[in-house]
Amino acid sequence: MRIGIIGTGIMGAFHAQCLHAEVSGATVTAVADSDVDRARAAAAAIPGSLAFDDAQALIDCPDVDAVLIASPDALHAEQTLACIAAGKPTLCEKPLSYSVDEAERVVVAHRTAVGDGIPLVHQGFMRRFDPGYVEQKRVVASGAHGRPLMVHSVGRGVTSGPGATDESVIFNSAIHDLDLVPWLLDAPVTEVSWHAPEAPSSTGGGLRDRFLLLLRTADGALSTVEVFLNARYGYDMRCEVVCETGAVSIAEPHRVAVSTSLVACTAVPEDFRPRFAEAYRLELQEWVTALGEGRAPALATIDDGATATRVAAAAAASMRAGGAFVRVGDVR
Ligand SMILES: NC(=O)c1ccc[n+]([C@@H]2O[C@H](COP(=O)([O-])OP(=O)(O)OC[C@H]3O[C@@H](n4cnc5c(N)ncnc54)[C@H](O)[C@@H]3O)[C@@H](O)[C@H]2O)c1
Repeated sequence: MRIGIIGTGIMGAFHAQCLHAEVSGATVTAVADSDVDRARAAAAAIPGSLAFDDAQALIDCPDVDAVLIASPDALHAEQTLACIAAGKPTLCEKPLSYSVDEAERVVVAHRTAVGDGIPLVHQGFMRRFDPGYVEQKRVVASGAHGRPLMVHSVGRGVTSGPGATDESVIFNSAIHDLDLVPWLLDAPVTEVSWHAPEAPSSTGGGLRDRFLLLLRTADGALSTVEVFLNARYGYDMRCEVVCETGAVSIAEPHRVAVSTSLVACTAVPEDFRPRFAEAYRLELQEWVTALGEGRAPALATIDDGATATRVAAAAAASMRAGGAFVRVGDVR
């Protein structure tokens, strides 16, 4: 499978190296970035790959069988539409869009193009491939601990990225949890509300980025999502599903505790790359293998991407309304 990657920033460069070094059946044949020096640097690390300064040139390139979109959020929908028009299988990083109308336009274009055939476009919700979350979902679905009643999903980071806004924290970061909670419960989110502490934070740079979302799902569960991007101490993702007779939590993967000088320490990852490296690799391997075998990849679909955008739009509306519950689907 000859892959072209649009956007060679942090995520695109990481995907390029993962596909090149760790995914069997994949060759990165081209990369594109509007910053052509960045594209050239990424291409230089992968012998034989081409560097473009234009996404459409990469999409049209005959040496590219499938496209991975890792450009900024605002470009995902239009670049996905261009891939659909070119008939090329596409893995688009999250989110699909910040606009429900735009996300639904992509879904309609996709449905028109493929009908009941194998989906062409998938969404990069890679936590669905993280071994911890996969096992958590399996244990919950087994029913051994009764019905799930609540999910508590926590996402903390060192700092928010440049240009982050209160809205982008929802559509760019919380969107992972907005996909994850209904996936874990196998029930769609019906209502969401947004709540933040009154107390100012010394680390948020004006952002209200430490907030809680309350999610009601169609199975009757009530879940919390905590987002705190400027938590400083490290990248810390936690998730617990509370069931009728047991609680199912993800234990920290692959850590060692070092005890010395009267202190016991465990390192906390700096960002998403070390924490989710295996999830990215497994997601990309499934995508490439399925494309090679001519079957539908078991990744999140473009409909899942649009659904997450609808939930995020409801959360943003609740934020603007001061925390009232907003029904998913009532906001465009
Ligand atoms: N799944 C995850 O866990 C995860 C993690 C991080 C980022 N992401 C997503 O990946 C995407 C990229 O994030 P990032 O952190 O790498 O950002 P980044 O800013 O580091 O990289 C984006 C790159 O896109 C390039 N670009 C801008 N306009 C372009 C255009 N018109 N055509 C081609 N390239 C263009 C920029 O020059 C830059 O190199 C975002 O949508 C983000 O949400 C997903």
